[in-house]
Amino acid sequence: MNFIRMSDLDLAGKRVFIRADLNVPQDDDGRITDDTRIRASVPAIEAALKAGAAVMVTSHLGRPTEGAFKPADSLAPVAERLAELLQRKVPLISNWIEDTSWQSALDPDNVVLLENCRVNQGEKKDDEALAKKMASFCDVYVNDAFGTAHRAEATTHGIAKFAPVACAGPLLAAELDALGKVLHDPKRPLVAIVAGSKVSTKLTILETLSDRVDQLIVGGGIANTFLAAMGKAIGKSLSEPDLVKDAKAIIDKMKARGADVPLPTDVVVGKKFSADTEARTIGVDDVQADDMIFDVGPETSKVIGAIVAKAGTIVWNGPLGVFEFDAFAGGTERLAKAIASGPGFSIAGGGDTLAAIAKFGIGAQVGYISTGGGAFLEFLEGKTLPAVQVLEERAKT
Ligand code: 3PG
Repeated sequence: MNFIRMSDLDLAGKRVFIRADLNVPQDDDGRITDDTRIRASVPAIEAALKAGAAVMVTSHLGRPTEGAFKPADSLAPVAERLAELLQRKVPLISNWIEDTSWQSALDPDNVVLLENCRVNQGEKKDDEALAKKMASFCDVYVNDAFGTAHRAEATTHGIAKFAPVACAGPLLAAELDALGKVLHDPKRPLVAIVAGSKVSTKLTILETLSDRVDQLIVGGGIANTFLAAMGKAIGKSLSEPDLVKDAKAIIDKMKARGADVPLPTDVVVGKKFSADTEARTIGVDDVQADDMIFDVGPETSKVIGAIVAKAGTIVWNGPLGVFEFDAFAGGTERLAKAIASGPGFSIAGGGDTLAAIAKFGIGAQVGYISTGGGAFLEFLEGKTLPAVQVLEERAKT
C-alpha cells in the first residue's frame, strides 16, 4: 500500500488535523468502560505535538443525529481521559464548524479536541462543502482512525481530498501493515477463528477466508449453522437455516482443496439463555430438541488447541460461546489461553473478541490487537477501505 505516513513529514509549525477513532464504550452514566482506542490514538497526537504542530483532533462517538447534538453525544469524557493520558490540557471545542474562532487561538504545541464530528450536518454523506471547510482548517490531514476506515464520511474521506497534504497516522499505518501481512504473506499454517452469533454478518469474511486459510474454526451461532449443514440436530440453538447451504458450500470448498473446518464434537448446552440456567456438557449427537448450544466442550477445545499450537498465523474474530456467562465461558477461555501460549503470530479484532481478551487477561500475549471492528472484518474480506483508498490517491498527486 502506498500512502504518505505522518512520520515522513516535517510538522513543525503546521496546523495538523487528526481524525482519530475515539468511539469508546460507555456505561449508562457516560463513564468510559474501555479506553483502548483512546490509548491507541495517543502516539499520533504526541508525535505531532513533539514536532511542534498545532493539533486538532476529532472523532465520532456513537451514531448521533446530525444537527441535533445531545449531551450524551459529547466527547467530554474522552477529552478528560485524553488529558490524563497526554498529561496536558485538552480543551473540547463545540460547534466548531460554524464558530471558527478557536482556530486563531490554537498555537503550536497545543491540542484541542473538536466535538463529535458526526453531529455536523453532512458528515455521514461525505458532503463536499463540509469536507472543504474542514480541510481549510489545516496544513496536514492525518487519518489515524482505522476503526472508521471502512466509512466514506467527511472526516474520513472527503477532507483527505482537499487538505493540502493527507497522510496516515501511526495507528492506521500499523494496522494496515499488520493486517496486510496476514492477508498477503502469512506464516503457514494460517488458521482463522470466525465466531459469533450470526453467519449472515460474517458470510463474506467466511467466504474470503475459506479461499486462503488452512483451517477455519467456526464458533458460536455460526458453528450451529455449520453443524446444521452437516445434518446435526441443534435443538433450539441460535442458527440461520437460510444460510445452511452457504455453510455447506464453504465446508465443501475447503475440503476440496485439502483444508478443513473442524466442527464441535462436544458442546455445553442449557435450556434457556440466562447465566443461571443449568449447563450440561454433552456429545454433539446428544443435543435434545429443547437444548440450546452455548459453548464448545473440552474435547472440542483439545482439537482446537492442537490446531492453534501448530499454527504459524492465527486470525481471531469472535467468541466460541456465551463467554459473558461463566458457565459458558470455558471454550472461549481455553481458546484464548491456547492462542496466548502458542508460537504462532496472532491477530485479533472485534468488540467481543477484545472483551474476551481482556476478560481472560491475554492481551500481552496476542501478536496484534486491532482497534477495528467492522473495518477489521472488511479489510480481511479483501474490500477496499475508502479512507485508505483516498490516502493512496493523494500519495500519487
Ligand atoms: C466501530 O466502533 O467499529 C467504529 O468506531 C465505527 O463505528 P460505526 O460502525 O458507527 O461507523
